[in-house]
Amino acid sequence: MLQPEEWTRQAMKILQSKARPHFAPDQEVLAIHRQLLTTAKQETERRLRVLILGATPELADLCLELDCHAVRVDDNALMFEAAALRRQLADPARETIIKGNWLDLWEIADNQIDFVLGDSSLNNVPHAQMGQMLKELKRVTHAGSRIALRQIIRPADHVPEYEFKAARDAFRRNELSPQEFYFITRFYSFQAEAYDPVARTLDATQVFAALQGMFAEGELTADEFAFLHGRAGCIVHTIYTRQEQQELLTELGACRAIAPKSACYFRDLANIFVVERC
Ligand SMILES: C[S@@+](CC[C@H](N)C(=O)[O-])C[C@H]1O[C@@H](n2cnc3c(N)ncnc32)[C@H](O)[C@@H]1O
Repeated sequence: MLQPEEWTRQAMKILQSKARPHFAPDQEVLAIHRQLLTTAKQETERRLRVLILGATPELADLCLELDCHAVRVDDNALMFEAAALRRQLADPARETIIKGNWLDLWEIADNQIDFVLGDSSLNNVPHAQMGQMLKELKRVTHAGSRIALRQIIRPADHVPEYEFKAARDAFRRNELSPQEFYFITRFYSFQAEAYDPVARTLDATQVFAALQGMFAEGELTADEFAFLHGRAGCIVHTIYTRQEQQELLTELGACRAIAPKSACYFRDLANIFVVERC
């Protein structure tokens, strides 16, 4: 789902507030990507060409920091503008910016890409178009390329501590950080209302409507609701279980999933999937 209106709205919000958006990759995720890129770099003599699926400035900086060439592709020009505010490094000679669609990367020739990075990127591709997406990734990479994608996932089994009231109470006992509380309620607690198991989509509009309902019923304080509602949006994400996600990516090569250690939600709600392209 390209959803240009929603990404334009998010970009405008970033441009106005100049704040780092809540959906930016955190330090632990970036450290894992740094490690993976460093290893790939050690295995080759030439400068790595890294395709970044999205404008994501933290990933672009990481590429420059490690002397790679970043090829950044995003369909939304305003997201590149918003990303520019958060850049730490600049080297136009080592960066290519493409305003385009990941499903048709015609600007990139076959086998040109050594590494692919993305932060919730494939969560933005409809299930029905995932085959085309993987085909395009296969075309632009080569045997031995690596693909490292942080993906939002959904637990295959019920997780009682991710239920709304359990998460809220844990947050009130300071056992969950605000980010963890947000992530759990945003991507798990309201699956019954917001997840379509056929299309594999989680509809943020439904999630935020459910949160509004919780507030109306007195289940959230004004501060708690204001915090969660401040992140409101209407993105429709494609979300798989860890196993489904791994099986899909295995089409490109051997795939393993890494769960960062610090945030509790990472165990079952977000992993980094690493593929060694065969
Ligand atoms: C990569 S995702 C998630 C945001 C990411 N976590 C970050 O910090 O930037 C969001 C971006 O994907 C872009 N996008 C979604 N579907 C796309 C597609 N098919 N082709 C190109 N860009 C796409 C949107 O325009 C948006 O800027």
